[in-house]
Amino acid sequence: MIFYYSACGNSRWIARELAAGLGERLCYIPDLLRQGEFGYDIGPDESIGFVFPVYAWGAPRIVEQFVQRCHWHGTARYTWFACTCGDDMGHTRRLFEETLAGAGLVPDACFCFVMPETYLALPGFRLDTKQGARQKIRAAREKLPQVIRQIGGRQSVWDEKRGVMPFVKSYVIRPVFVRMASDRKYHVLDGCNGCGTCARVCPVSNIVMSDGRPQWRGGCIECMACYHHCPRNVAQYGWYTRGKGQYFFGKRWLREDDADVSAQDADGGAAEDLG
Ligand SMILES: Cc1cc2nc3c(=O)[nH]c(=O)nc-3n(C[C@H](O)[C@H](O)[C@H](O)COP(=O)(O)O)c2cc1C
Repeated sequence: MIFYYSACGNSRWIARELAAGLGERLCYIPDLLRQGEFGYDIGPDESIGFVFPVYAWGAPRIVEQFVQRCHWHGTARYTWFACTCGDDMGHTRRLFEETLAGAGLVPDACFCFVMPETYLALPGFRLDTKQGARQKIRAAREKLPQVIRQIGGRQSVWDEKRGVMPFVKSYVIRPVFVRMASDRKYHVLDGCNGCGTCARVCPVSNIVMSDGRPQWRGGCIECMACYHHCPRNVAQYGWYTRGKGQYFFGKRWLREDDADVSAQDADGGAAEDLG
């Protein structure tokens, strides 16, 4: 059984590839939370896997909350998790191990896939270039068969990309980031046609459409799905996201300073498969 969460498709792709390679069932965490499904029977030879993006050098709160609410009946033969990050994961492994321990699970393996960046809601954060995004996806694609073999062989693997100053990132900056999380800066520019895509892609149903305009209701998990999926690029986070372009797995509007930006790419009319 593989439980996954993804806002912009990177982790969904990894989860799907792993599920296909391992013949495992996939479960989407936001759906399980909505449906209130928290009890799972684990067969004696079964394994449990989690796939999620790194948010502020730890697991997303939605993933932590799901694990905390779950009841596992039986003991998994093998427990693993795989995270995707744009750059590095800090002490995500340590933090998520603590979360799993609270639910009575002890991980046997952890994997890290570096994928295109999605966080843009602060000054200084930018998308990867098209070439950079392609390289990351190519490297992840090449890594997948090995990870499938390792999980299939129930190996103990600790594949982490901690980056520099992981302790500061995960234990000092992360709590501040989590405390400051707010959707008050989200708004739409003129040009919003009320299509409702933002509301549909929000994994926590935090956006409602009112008089043809989205309203963010205060339960945001900062995933940026509404921003990246907006067909007109009019959903914005303060001024921080202005002109930064959009990305989601399989389709992306280019960064404005990419050398090969084209009108077709820029208006979002052309679906571009970066995979
Ligand atoms: C709120 C937020 C926080 C993030 N924090 C980190 C981080 O701490 N380190 C990192 O390398 N990437 C970080 N990222 C980038 C994502 O982890 C990365 O792009 C991931 O592959 C996105 O997965 P998804 O497409 O499945 O949503 C962050 C992205 C978001 C939206």
